[in-house]
Formats: sequence, C-alpha cells, structure tokens
Amino acid sequence: MTWGHLMDGAGIKTYFKIQVEKAAAYFAAEVSGIDFTQPLGAEAFGEIEQALCEHEILIFRDAEMATEDQIRFGKMFGDLSVHPFSPNSDETPELIVFDNNEDNPPFGTDIWHSDETFRECPPMATCLRALEVPKVGGDTLFASMTAAYEGLSDRMKNFIDGLEAIHDFKPFKQLFGNDVESRKNLQQYELMYPPMRHPVVRVHPVTGKKSLFVNPQFTIQVVGMGEFESRSLLTDLFDLAKVPEYQYRHHWYANTLVIWDNRSLQHYAVHDYWPERRSMERVTIAGDRPQGEGTSDLKELRSRKTPHPVEDSVSHGGHAPKRQLHR
Ligand code: SIN
Repeated sequence: MTWGHLMDGAGIKTYFKIQVEKAAAYFAAEVSGIDFTQPLGAEAFGEIEQALCEHEILIFRDAEMATEDQIRFGKMFGDLSVHPFSPNSDETPELIVFDNNEDNPPFGTDIWHSDETFRECPPMATCLRALEVPKVGGDTLFASMTAAYEGLSDRMKNFIDGLEAIHDFKPFKQLFGNDVESRKNLQQYELMYPPMRHPVVRVHPVTGKKSLFVNPQFTIQVVGMGEFESRSLLTDLFDLAKVPEYQYRHHWYANTLVIWDNRSLQHYAVHDYWPERRSMERVTIAGDRPQGEGTSDLKELRSRKTPHPVEDSVSHGGHAPKRQLHR
C-alpha cells in the first residue's frame, strides 16, 4: 500500500467510497457507507486501509454481519493469525470468542497492551465486533502511541530512539498448571515464543510515523540497561498510555465493529461490567517484524555503563529456547 495518494495539497485525505468522520481530537474515526454483508469493492477497501493508517482506529456502527463476514473482512487485510493462548473458536481457530458472563469472567485484557507483542511479528491490526453488550460499562480505551511519542521532548526522543526492549508472554504463563504435563506444555510454548526484542520506538511501515512500542502487559526489560534503569524508564513510558489527551474511549453497542492498528495503538478493556454478559468476536491480521530507526547495535549499548545488561543471546527472531534475562 502506498501512503498519501488520496491527500489534497493541505495533507487532508479525501475519501470517495466511504464516509469518514473524526471521533476524537487526535485519532479515531467513524466510517459509514459500508455494507459488510456484500463483498467490498477494491476501491472502498483501499480507502478503508488508508483511513486505518491515518486514524489508527476505525469504528463501524450498525455493522450488521455474520461471523463469516467479519472473517472475510479481516482476510482482506492479510492472513489472519491464531492467538496461542486465547479462547479460539473450535471450528475457526483464527476467531477469538470473548463470551464473558457470570461463569466466565474476563481475563487479561484490563491492562494496556498492543496485541501479542511477544511474537516475532505481532498482528498489525485487530478487528473486534460486539454481539451482546452490558447495560453499562464494558468500554474499551485506546491510546495513540504515536501521539504519546510526539508529545515527548526532543531530548527524550533522542534518548529512546534506537533502544530495544524484550517482550514476553508472561501474563499467559499463569494459565498453565503446575503438574508435570502442564509444565512440559509451557516449556514447549517457551520454545515457540522465546523472549523477543523489538524497537522501543517503532516506525510505521506505511505512514513512516514513529510510535512508542512498549506495553506493560508484555514488555519486561530494556536491552542494555540494568534492572533499575529499565524499570524506571519503562514505567514512565507505560504511563503515557494513561494520558487522557492521547486516548479515545469506545462505548460499545451491539453490531459495532472496530478495527485498530496495533502498530500505533494500545488498548485496555475495562472489566467493570462483570458478572453481566459481554460477548465479542475478534480476528487479528498478521503483521510484519517491527522496525525502528537505526536500531542500536549491541556494542553501542555495551559502551554505556550497564551493570546488569540483558544478555545478547535473547532472540532477534527464530525459535531459540528461552534465555535467562536476569543474572
Ligand atoms: C482485547 O484486548 O483484544 C480485548 C478488547 C476488548 O474486549 O474490548
């Protein structure tokens, strides 16, 4: 996809096949004019792709559709990915079913995160649809990490540009039991999903915009820093998602479909509705390897004073066994 061919001279994009209206000051837009039960034309879809990169999250209200329509829509963006730890549908593992109710409390989404950043190639986008919503509550908060990055001082930007951090599927480890079989199973997952290095500042492959790519759910350590330095830097960066100016809070109605760009956003599902029912279906679109600008090499990092640097054996990719991160 190219960026900008729909821009007018003032850098404002014009859409012909869809209607796009901003939903918040910095990012988020509502899109209308789409019938999801019919195949989408290439032009309309191209505009949706552009709008997603421009606005970071798109909201489609009254999006009457069947699960298959949502899957078909997701597949237009690329291959769907299968979440290794989520409640996936038996028939279609690419489909995650969040059917939370009295007997099934929500789990693991009430923390700021970008989806599955423990993977070498985290999903580029997530498409979530509300089937049944509670009377009150159950909103999802989104934070633009592009806005968060842009809000930093030049000194801070210079400091973090080029750093890398380690991401790990730590929150899901509690899903495994403590018996021998479960521990073996967990080890298999640790081999499949070793701790992964990603740039702290990610460059969006389409827009070229920079965003903060660390999140409290999966990011555990800044490469080349001691435990204490890393923790204080990460805490400061994690806190930026909480700044109201960088946020859009989405209130759900049944038949609302939302798609967001994981390369530039984080989200947080508010667990305030339980034990009411909230039923959602989600597909994620496979993404590419996050790229930074001038990703730092390890020698340069080592030249700084780092009493307890993370070992350089932590994976850049591939499926190496999990390494010790802390000495
Ligand atoms: C998620 O983290 O993908 C779930 C978001 C939600 O349930 O609102």
